[in-house]
Amino acid sequence: MSLRFTFKPETEQQLTTFELPDEIGFCKYTVPIMAVAHYRDGIWQDAQITDFAPLQISPDCLGLHYGQVIFEGMKAFYDSADHCAVCFRWQQHWARLNESAKRLAMPEVPQPLFQQLLFTLVAKSQSYLPTGVGDALYLRPLMFASGNGLGFGKNDSFTLIIIAAPTAQYFNAPLNVYVEREYRRACEGGVGGAKMAGNYGATYLASQKAQQHGCQQTLWLDAKEGRYIEEFSAMNFFAVFDNEIVTPRLTGTILPGVTRDSVIEIAKKLDIQICERAVSIEELTEQIQSGNCQEVFACGTGATLIPVASLNDGSSVYELGEWKFTQKLKDALQTIQHGQGDKHFDSWITRI
Ligand code: COI
Repeated sequence: MSLRFTFKPETEQQLTTFELPDEIGFCKYTVPIMAVAHYRDGIWQDAQITDFAPLQISPDCLGLHYGQVIFEGMKAFYDSADHCAVCFRWQQHWARLNESAKRLAMPEVPQPLFQQLLFTLVAKSQSYLPTGVGDALYLRPLMFASGNGLGFGKNDSFTLIIIAAPTAQYFNAPLNVYVEREYRRACEGGVGGAKMAGNYGATYLASQKAQQHGCQQTLWLDAKEGRYIEEFSAMNFFAVFDNEIVTPRLTGTILPGVTRDSVIEIAKKLDIQICERAVSIEELTEQIQSGNCQEVFACGTGATLIPVASLNDGSSVYELGEWKFTQKLKDALQTIQHGQGDKHFDSWITRI
């Protein structure tokens, strides 16, 4: 496969003159370049770096109508020792993008193509890389069916873009969580395990309900029995019962979070007991009431680790206030992400 990269001199100019504002927020500003590739006639082609600019999409673009849209959320961090960008677990994100692509019958993205687009974008965006601990260049690969016509059949044209945004962590205060009992996020055999746009669109109504109760996140329960905890609206769920961390095992209905996996691996390395198993909402509330649940936290790329301050299950509100494990795991994760972690985790980071 031949890749063609185009770098526009005026873009280079923009890159050297941009200054990050003090409060960068979560992905409020985007880097003025992006990576793009198209899949047509059975091959990926026209890979290039372009200006960040509106895409030419026809009103009958199939992805817009029928929802064949998948994405990734990943980050590059500043390594203050080597003064460079560090891409965190990009191979896992590439692999998960392809798992989502398979589930949605979209073409897989070859690793060399993904790697070249990503690394070139990060290298060209270095002056946008924030240097604060926990801050990052958020990288958002997105793939959608870009063919035209409303026929609901086989799609053969797809577009992949990667955009970048300097960002702080998603949340800056512990979360209040609302347990959703009316709606369900995903069922067995469905698309809950894929990182597809529809999974996020489908949570907005429940999010509005959560907000009306002063909560920032929804906690989803399983579709079959409405008992077992699945995940938060945009993050994975963890709790600490009697010094053991528990998290729902992956059953196909839960997003296989890269941060989730990182937390599990870090906990093992730190000799913290961790178990992937079914956790019912009754068990969680009983453990909180009896004082056996020390902590609940959420994790994802955007937020890293964020503690839960309260859980509203519709009839009662349960308060949580200790975040020793959350903080320890978050500190360890951030150290690795900024390129200063234990050698054991070297394969998770790629310096650019
Ligand atoms: C992320 O955490 O990176 C995600 O993709 C979730 C998104 C809603 C911010």
